[in-house]
Amino acid sequence: MAFPKGFLWGGATAANQLEGGYLAGGKGLSDADVCTGGSHTQSKRITPVLEADTFYPSHEAIDHYHRYQEDIALFAEMGFKVYRFSIAWTRIFPTGEETEPNEAGLQFYENLIDECLKYDIEPLVTISHYEMPYALTEKYNGWTDRRVIDLYVTYCQAIFTRFKGKVKRWLTFNEINCGAMPLGNLLSLGILNNGTTEFMHQIDQPQLRFQALHHQFIASAKAVQLGHEIDQDNQIGCMIAYMMSYPLTPNPADVLENQKVMQISNYLCGDVQVRGAYPSFAKRYFTENDIQIEKEPEDDAILAAGKVDFYTFSYYMTVCQTTDEAAKSGGNLMGGAKNPYLISSDWGWQIDPLGLRIALNEIYDRYQIPLMVVENGLGAYDKIKADGTIDDDYRIDYLKQHINAMHEAVLDGVDLIGYTPWGCIDLVSASTGEMAKRYGFIYVEKYDDGSGDFSRRRKKSFDWYKAVIASNGEKL
Ligand code: BG6
Repeated sequence: MAFPKGFLWGGATAANQLEGGYLAGGKGLSDADVCTGGSHTQSKRITPVLEADTFYPSHEAIDHYHRYQEDIALFAEMGFKVYRFSIAWTRIFPTGEETEPNEAGLQFYENLIDECLKYDIEPLVTISHYEMPYALTEKYNGWTDRRVIDLYVTYCQAIFTRFKGKVKRWLTFNEINCGAMPLGNLLSLGILNNGTTEFMHQIDQPQLRFQALHHQFIASAKAVQLGHEIDQDNQIGCMIAYMMSYPLTPNPADVLENQKVMQISNYLCGDVQVRGAYPSFAKRYFTENDIQIEKEPEDDAILAAGKVDFYTFSYYMTVCQTTDEAAKSGGNLMGGAKNPYLISSDWGWQIDPLGLRIALNEIYDRYQIPLMVVENGLGAYDKIKADGTIDDDYRIDYLKQHINAMHEAVLDGVDLIGYTPWGCIDLVSASTGEMAKRYGFIYVEKYDDGSGDFSRRRKKSFDWYKAVIASNGEKL
């Protein structure tokens, strides 16, 4: 078995989860920088004023800001063809409202991009990965305010121009569909409704949330147009957290329930970004939930003119949907009921490789544009053995099964162009703020009490993934 020629093998990260250097080079505070550490059982806290003795994982993260050359050399050793990373908006526009971009921030990313290109690793840039300047959250309550659209477009203009010819593939917003769910309030929309103090228990106002999401749709569509104008070779994609679910039972009520959840949590955003218009089912959902989207007369035309070139998504787990309240269990961002046929990770995420094949087929059937899996992986507790090695066979097993599923989907006819597993180097968990939840092929000595010397070491999966890439997916 082999993947198509030129298949983009690589890995993915996000600025606030690995860079550290949270004020270095004139960087401003982002929403992530005001979130404390947390765990599987204890929510991260959101502290608008930084507390002196509190641990904030993003402030140092894994210190990639100072060690990116070493890290990219390790990625190159594995044979990466592509590296997906995000640019921190706050390094380029520290408060989001400066009129000129911050040169030190641009230079940092230019160095990082050049380092990738040195090894023939293609940069794939996420423009906004849970990274709103905190100043915009304070002043505008994030994306709820339409004025943020122009600020984002100014940021896009600065990076499209500076990295023209070096970066060809861009993603406008990470997991934009998180905005269709309550946890997306702060995470992806920069909304901090009065009284919210805990990340896992955010105060939710769906009206504000969907209005903010609308502003992101417009911003994304404008970015697509601008990116094409600045460089016709630019390919600009969407990024969806594909939250696959199944009906818990064959009861038609569960089937319908699942369809409704899939529509709002997965397809609403993809449809707007790929097809350039709100899907027909949105109207009823908005009416029934008392949501009125305020639109400007030009908005429909902007959406239609800003369709993405390719569709990317993250895929970790699946759940079931049911109308039976007692059967609903709740799992991380997704909610829903447990699937009796699947086993779970230590964080309760249900592992479902076959679901990836189903997802790829469904998405491709719906949109018929190139697809890329830009996040996938197993968050696990890794242990360093006495001899210094880390045997993460469970991770190899997870990835192997998902790569097999992708290959089956390719045989099914899906146009899949690449795969960038999440957290190719250990980094801070987005949902819990922990280091203990590790995804990497590379172990980083950094721990949740703030200790650790940041040294890097190859896990068993490092050599395994290297062989996978070298054989274009044949040697699993
Ligand atoms: C995705 C995000 O939701 O999943 C990443 O795009 C995140 O930022 C990843 O890190 C894994 O989630 P977690 O909570 O295990 O870090």
